[in-house]
Amino acid sequence: MEYLDFAIDLAREAGYVLTHYMEREKHVELKGRANLVTIADKESEALIIRRILERYPTHAILAEESGVSGAEEVQSGRWIIDPLDGTTNFAHQYPFFCVSVGFELAGNVLCGAVYDPWRDEMFSAARGAGSFMNGQRLHVSDIDRLAGGLILTGFPYGVRQKMKTAMSQFEAFMFESQAVRRGGSAALDLSYIALGRCDGFWEMDLHPWDTAAGLVIVEEAGGRVTDFTGNPFSIYGKQILASNGKIHGEMIEVLRKCGV
Ligand code: IPD
Ligand code: CA
Ligand code: CA
Repeated sequence: MEYLDFAIDLAREAGYVLTHYMEREKHVELKGRANLVTIADKESEALIIRRILERYPTHAILAEESGVSGAEEVQSGRWIIDPLDGTTNFAHQYPFFCVSVGFELAGNVLCGAVYDPWRDEMFSAARGAGSFMNGQRLHVSDIDRLAGGLILTGFPYGVRQKMKTAMSQFEAFMFESQAVRRGGSAALDLSYIALGRCDGFWEMDLHPWDTAAGLVIVEEAGGRVTDFTGNPFSIYGKQILASNGKIHGEMIEVLRKCGV
């Protein structure tokens, strides 16, 4: 698929920008109390936007650092970009970050690519065509009990206002699952579900650029993505629950008991 190939090229090229800055001065600035932006976020995003405008001048763009750009109308399609997912990790040289590129048409994300330049792992998927990592077809895990599952999560930058909810969910999953990890890159968390490295993921208050590409990657690997109650997921919504499908019901139950 043309758009998928382009998304893969974009994610890889932007990934080189990130590795270039990994061991250099990063010019870290604060967007909020704990919300960082670096020169790598900005250069990665500028490169991606430039490439899209050259190739698809009629397409719209939604990118984390610059918001909306490109064509005003979204009829021809919209690229949804996180130029660096895992900025806090990146700023501390903690090697868990990626570039995420999704393509949306008529309200559906059709394809996406998530690239981890540190491990040279390229996750990609297009609707109906399967999910892949470096050319290898992906399938979610077959763990069928939450008690045997490795579960991932993350916290929004506004977590200090929602600490009680966040901690009650964290505690409940610590109790019910084999283990919980908080990696710091939602797009990679979703890709790891697709790969079967872990079994479930939940988070609140993510943005479309965090989840667009990962959504297709999980679903095309046979996984399930909903809100916390099992209703259809929207990249514009406030809750994401992704899993291998088999432990989804148990995860919904845990979240329900936490009062969401
Ligand atoms: C963040 C990461 C993190 C998640 C945060 C996101 P950023 O994105 O995906 O895992 O917990 O909610 O905002 O700011 O590094 O692009
Ligand atoms: Ca992000
Ligand atoms: Ca980002």
